[in-house]
Amino acid sequence: MKIFLDTADLSEIRRAADAGLIDGITTNPSLVAKVAEGDVSVMYREICEAVDGPVSLEVLAVDRETMVTEGRKLAAIHENAVVKVPLTEDGLKACSDLVAEGHKVNVTLCFSVSQALLAAKAGATFISPFVGRLDDISGEGMQLISQIRQVYDNYGFDTEILAASLRHPMHVVECMLIGADCCTLPPKVLWQLSSHPLTDKGLAAFLKDWDAAGTAI
Ligand code: E4P
Repeated sequence: MKIFLDTADLSEIRRAADAGLIDGITTNPSLVAKVAEGDVSVMYREICEAVDGPVSLEVLAVDRETMVTEGRKLAAIHENAVVKVPLTEDGLKACSDLVAEGHKVNVTLCFSVSQALLAAKAGATFISPFVGRLDDISGEGMQLISQIRQVYDNYGFDTEILAASLRHPMHVVECMLIGADCCTLPPKVLWQLSSHPLTDKGLAAFLKDWDAAGTAI
């Protein structure tokens, strides 16, 4: 399963990329607004250069024509750029247009299987179902991932399931068991994946025993 980092924070991106742990990046307007200064296209280029994989950059327009114009500009920033469009009627049309031009497209803000079906029909490279936001309103976020997996497999769609809005390590584990193609994680969740209290306890005991023996390597 591919792991993407869900952030526009370059220091977090470089930290994770340096560890060889991430396959790409996703951003959204809220994440970019937290760190943006000056010309955003400069920051987007730096993000694309920091990883060897797809970087989702979202359009801000809501109509098909302007989405396509913005999408072309975003795609031109770097070969890693993937144009992110919302799952609306205009977004699906813009997806078809951009894919026809050879661009990669991530269709975001997906909350139902029927939406995911249409994104696949529109040729989306990635579909982003939002797990945590469904859970937030007492929905079944993980069931959505499972159902999209089944539908895409039933009909042989090659759109990749990019599970999004993941809030804790168990979300990631469940995505792996279901067979999501990719998970996008906030930096905090990525680092939570590596930690376990028994690892810390075990390491402390090993070092204490070694010190007690007074041995040198
Ligand atoms: C995905 O592309 C989104 O950027 C993200 O996962 C949304 O997560 P949130 O619901 O925690 O804001």
